Amino acid sequence: MKRTIVVPASYNGTHVGIIMDGNGRWASARGLPRTAGHRAGVRTARKIVEAATRANVATVTLYAFSSDNWSRPTPEVGALMRLLRRSLLIESKRCVENGVRLSIIGRRDRLPASLVVGIQEAEALTAHGRNLHLRVAIDYSARESIMQAAMLAGNEPMTREKFSRLLAEVNHDPFPIRDVDLLIRTGGEQRLSDFLLWECAYAEFYFTRCMWPEFTEHEFLTALSEFELRERRFGGIPAQAAS
Ligand code: IPE
Ligand code: IPE
Ligand code: MG
Repeated sequence: MKRTIVVPASYNGTHVGIIMDGNGRWASARGLPRTAGHRAGVRTARKIVEAATRANVATVTLYAFSSDNWSRPTPEVGALMRLLRRSLLIESKRCVENGVRLSIIGRRDRLPASLVVGIQEAEALTAHGRNLHLRVAIDYSARESIMQAAMLAGNEPMTREKFSRLLAEVNHDPFPIRDVDLLIRTGGEQRLSDFLLWECAYAEFYFTRCMWPEFTEHEFLTALSEFELRERRFGGIPAQAAS
């Protein structure tokens, strides 16, 4: 099956993936319920998306809820689903004002119906945004996506480009998957937790002990400038050595 969707030129620059971790620990350290940490996390996400737009980042993918997060206590999962629904409603209006296109990646069949409707409305409302493509991963598992795409591929001859399109299809992404350039994880852990495994093949990593609710525009810009200094070789040799 052939998809002829062209990625808008403005989305072809830097892709930043963010594992927004540490909400629960941030809240517990303050004697607050974990859900207060998730609410604070939404405020940080808003600030960082605005900072990314100002910094001319092309694509941001935020990890909001992993497929493994269903294993958390039911009240926390319920609170997260309601928070996601409410945030989509509020944030999609801001996205329109800032020219941000919002896409939700991941499975939809296990989400509450009201959240699925919210996703469809937010995506339709923001579809014309060209300044930044904001992807939010909800009920997302990279391994699950890769397996699903492989099943769709069947015995067809495959290229990376074709496979990227299949991955986009299983994740409800309107465009073929783009490689992650910079992967930021807050909260002190140094792992991927099943996030964008295919797309991070040559990503640069920035890990910080800062809990997500405390992550600032300043630290985001620090991560970007550190990224600019990294030498990316993609298996080759340094440019000077080749001349
Ligand atoms: C990340 O923060 C948000 C989600 C996974 C929904 P956590 O909830 O994982 O916070 P910690 O890691 O327990 O502090
Ligand atoms: C990863 O964080 C998922 C999100 C940030 C949404 P987790 O807190 O679920 O990951 P682990 O359990 O530390 O690997
Ligand atoms: Mg965590």
